Amino acid sequence: KRPAGAPDQSLARPVTKVGIVGAGLMASQLALLFLQRLQVPVVLTDIDDERVAKGVGYVHAELDKLAGKGRLNPDKLNRYKALVTGATSKDGFADADLVIEAVFEQMSVKQQVFAEVEAVVSPECVLATNTSSLSIAEMASQLTHPERVVGLHFFNPVAVMPLLEIIPGERTDDATLATAFAVGKALKKTCIRAADRPSFIVNRLLGRFMGEAAKILDEGTPIEVVDRAFAGLAPMPPFVLIGLVGPAIALHNGETLVAAFPDRFYASPTLQRIVAAGKRGFYDMSSGRPVL
Ligand code: CAA
Repeated sequence: KRPAGAPDQSLARPVTKVGIVGAGLMASQLALLFLQRLQVPVVLTDIDDERVAKGVGYVHAELDKLAGKGRLNPDKLNRYKALVTGATSKDGFADADLVIEAVFEQMSVKQQVFAEVEAVVSPECVLATNTSSLSIAEMASQLTHPERVVGLHFFNPVAVMPLLEIIPGERTDDATLATAFAVGKALKKTCIRAADRPSFIVNRLLGRFMGEAAKILDEGTPIEVVDRAFAGLAPMPPFVLIGLVGPAIALHNGETLVAAFPDRFYASPTLQRIVAAGKRGFYDMSSGRPVL
């Protein structure tokens, strides 16, 4: 059955090579997923050799883990490892059918990335963004072919979370959208079409939940108590989840929501302090104690 809002699947174009911009937390998980499910060459790029090596190293290490658990035979292990390459240049995207970016959540950075990618790829190559809150239409607005831009919003951990939000911008054409749904299906994700509104669907829902948890904390309830109160309600309590997604991403999402819907969302000064202090979460990684 065709998912609600998906165009005619006969319009979908084949994807025989994938480019990924960024080699960080989300990007390297995406590389692994595309590799396993599409079994096509995947090129991972970032701004320096160290980041690229870290991203490719993550993919290799995860493949080794799967092989160690008997979930990948030695033939596939070697084939998958050979299919993933890393580079600091985007030249390897020239024959890609899909390029997805997962770089820093800032509109100007993402627009710059797309402009650089467009200079290399074919006019039909789909340009996807893993943004969790920014406007797809605005990201596409300065391109020669804005109709090939689409949001593909994945969730962390990418291998486990079943959902994919697919977000067309105002100029996205049906072939691009159909390709996005076909790719989502091949990746074995549950695909939903979301409108191009700040934070789409999931992060709006999650933003209310996280904002309320932060408000209870800011009103004086200890962090462990707030987290413990979620026992059985969610797979991960709110402040543990912030450690998984990263405080800067959580803050960016919260601020986007406050700007878009000031009557409904809450920007926590405690979260702002955590980010300003460069902490990786509300809990210390080694001791498990709250950092503030
Ligand atoms: N990468 C790959 N696989 C992972 C993983 C990771 N980082 N973390 C866990 N897994 C796998 C485990 O290997 C295990 O697989 P098997 O059963 O096949 O062995 C399975 O997930 C379950 O793991 P665990 O038993 O270790 O732990 P768990 O049952 O507590 O599940 C969890 C871990 C899946 C992360 C779960 O706690 C969970 O669902 N947490 C909520 C995550 C969430 O809400 N993510 C969305 C964040 S929002 C976002 O990403 C979007 C944004 O824009 C900010």
